[in-house]
Amino acid sequence: MSTASTTSRALFLEEFGTLPGLGERTVPEHRPGHTLVRVAAATAAHLDLNILDGQFGILPELPFIPGTQGSGYVVASDTHPEGALVRLRGEGLGLSRDGAWGEHALVPDAAAETMPEGTDPALACVYFSPVGTAWATVHSIARVRPGERVLITGASGAVGAVAVQLAARAGAEVIGVVGRPAKLRHVPGVARTLLAADLSEEAIGGRADVLIDTVGGQVLRSALALVRPRGRAALLGYTAGRELTLDLADFFLADVSLLPVNMMSRTPEVASEVLGLLPDLSSGALTLPYETYGMGALGEAVERLRSGAAVGKIVLDMEHPGN
Ligand SMILES: NC(=O)c1ccc[n+]([C@@H]2O[C@H](COP(=O)([O-])OP(=O)(O)OC[C@H]3O[C@@H](n4cnc5c(N)ncnc54)[C@H](OP(=O)(O)O)[C@@H]3O)[C@@H](O)[C@H]2O)c1
Repeated sequence: MSTASTTSRALFLEEFGTLPGLGERTVPEHRPGHTLVRVAAATAAHLDLNILDGQFGILPELPFIPGTQGSGYVVASDTHPEGALVRLRGEGLGLSRDGAWGEHALVPDAAAETMPEGTDPALACVYFSPVGTAWATVHSIARVRPGERVLITGASGAVGAVAVQLAARAGAEVIGVVGRPAKLRHVPGVARTLLAADLSEEAIGGRADVLIDTVGGQVLRSALALVRPRGRAALLGYTAGRELTLDLADFFLADVSLLPVNMMSRTPEVASEVLGLLPDLSSGALTLPYETYGMGALGEAVERLRSGAAVGKIVLDMEHPGN
């Protein structure tokens, strides 16, 4: 095995509750059953923040390189072709073993999945969860049909924006709801847009057949009241609040099916569908919102993520670490 340089930069977490700092280490040595990757991109997601904060069930020994998802090019492997772009996730990556927030990662072979040639590395690291969740929600859970009116909250977010596009492709009339005025312009153009504060039957043009809620809290309560009897509401997030009180008499009267989205149990069933959407994502026919930062701008990226100001996912560009 040969690498261009024997040292490799990475973000090292020294203490929970702090931000990891940029440091150097020796490039990890390849060993059997593992794949050594030159990391191209990694995501910074809420799960990673929970680990930085020391708030997750599994916590690593420190110092530690975070990063639960990434992508990169194979340097050495017994199972993946050298030079191939692979997506990195699972097998304790960024949880119980060093993750993807560095220029190199040594991962179990099963944590690397070869991506189709020509895939953008940023897309490779970020696409699976939001696209899989949106696909399962629109097609398997809410079962959106042509001509239906579909209300989608968090419509500028990663899952919301893809759900908007998939529901429109399914022939629905889509209304995308966002919390902040600044995010109205980030809802895909196939939807009509509305601020959550302005939600009303009149504003959406009548009752909705389907609600896809990615936000929870008061937004969910307001939107749920606008679904027609025998309509469906697929619930998948609770960033804005995790409680929903159910008055049984009102629930029976409203006659709306509440459908939980649980991607932990659905990931295998969407894998091929999501891979099938990758060409559209690569060509831009289907868009997935994300913001890109260098490792040196981690603080800014984390702040955007924590405050909810970020538009979609956060991607760290490991090939330009100083940005
Ligand atoms: N159930 C499952 O299996 C499953 C699978 C994947 C994801 N999820 C969950 O689904 C949700 C959406 O995922 P995503 O990837 O689309 O997330 P995202 O890109 O971060 O979007 C979330 C949206 O939530 C809204 N929001 C409301 N209150 C917020 C707050 N206090 N902080 C941040 N955002 C806030 C934001 O829209 P506005 O600014 O317009 O309010 C934002 O666009 C997340 O909660 C995620 O954990 C669940």
